[in-house]
Amino acid sequence: PPITDLNIQMESLSRPSLFDFYGVCMTKYFTDNWDNIQNFKAGPDDIVLASYPKAGNTWVSYILDLLYFGQTSPERQGSVPLHERVPFLEIQIPGFPSGVDALNELSTFPRIIKTHLPVQFLPKSFWEQNSKIIYVARNAKDTAVSYFHFDRMNKAQPEPGNWESFLQRFMEGKMVFGSWYEHVRGWWEKKQSSSNILYLFYEDLIEDIEQELGRICSFLGLSPTTELKKQVTEKVLFDSMKTNKMVNGSTDEVFDFKISPFMRKGRVGDWKNHFTVQQDEQFNEDYEKKMKNTDLLFRTVL
Ligand code: PPS
Repeated sequence: PPITDLNIQMESLSRPSLFDFYGVCMTKYFTDNWDNIQNFKAGPDDIVLASYPKAGNTWVSYILDLLYFGQTSPERQGSVPLHERVPFLEIQIPGFPSGVDALNELSTFPRIIKTHLPVQFLPKSFWEQNSKIIYVARNAKDTAVSYFHFDRMNKAQPEPGNWESFLQRFMEGKMVFGSWYEHVRGWWEKKQSSSNILYLFYEDLIEDIEQELGRICSFLGLSPTTELKKQVTEKVLFDSMKTNKMVNGSTDEVFDFKISPFMRKGRVGDWKNHFTVQQDEQFNEDYEKKMKNTDLLFRTVL
C-alpha cells in the first residue's frame, strides 16, 4: 500500500491480547488467516523452518537462503529483506501481505518457509507432501530472556510487563505460540517417527557452526563448494548479520530499535544477567517437573 495508508495502519496497529486457541495461547495476528493457513498447499520441495519464537529461526533461514540463492541470485542479498525471501506462514498483520499470499507469490525455488506453529498446527499438506522440516530449539532460559526483550520492542506482540511477571507467564505457557515446554517436546516426539525432520539446537550452532552447516547440507542433500561454505559461515556470524540491513530486522516496521535491537546479544547464557538466584531456583524446580520423561536435553551454558 502507499506510504500514507501504511502510516495510518501502523498507528492503528495495536498490541494484541492473548487468547486460548485450541489449547495454545495465540494472538489475532497469527490466527486471523487460519483457514488459509490450514489449507495451505505445500509442495514436495518446500523446506519448513520451524521453531518456538527466539530460537534462532532468522539465523537458520539466512543460512538456507545463502545455500540456495547466495550464488544464483546474489542481487537479492542486497535488495530483498530476509523476511520477504523466507515468508512467515501464519502471519497476518493489517497493511502487510499475509504469509500465505507471500508464499504463493514467491518466485524462487525451493520455497523456504518460516513458522512458529506447534507441531499439531502445521498444515497437513506438509505431512502429505513429506516436505523437509528443520526445527530449531534453544534452551528455555535464554529463550525467555530473548522473548522478553522482543516483546518490549515489537508493537505487534502483547505488552511484556516486567521481567518477573513475564518469567512467570513463560513458565505457565502463556506466551504467543504457547508453552515452550510443549513446543520443543511436541516437535521432538514427532521427530522420533519422521525422517523428514532435522532437529537443531541453537547452542550447537553457537558452538560449531561448520559442523551444523554440514548436518544441514547433508539433510537437504546439498554439497556446497568449500568457497560457498566459507561465504556462508562468514555472512551468518552474529556481527555480520547485525550490521546487515537486509537481515537484522531494520526493515521490519513493527520493531522499535530504540527499545531493543532484533539482533540483540546472540549468546548462550545471557539469562544469567536476568535471573535472580531465587528465580533460577524456582525455574529449575518447575523445569524438572515439566521436562521429566523426556530425553530432550538442553545446555544453558557452554
Ligand atoms: S524470531 O523473531 O522469533 O523469529 O526470532 P529468532 O530469529 O528465532 O531468534 C532471535 C534470536 O536469535 C539470535 N540470533 C543469533 N545468534 C547468534 N548468531 C547469529 N547469527 C544470530 N542471528 C540471530 C538473536 O540475536 C536473538 O537472540 P538474542 O538472545 O535476543 O540476541
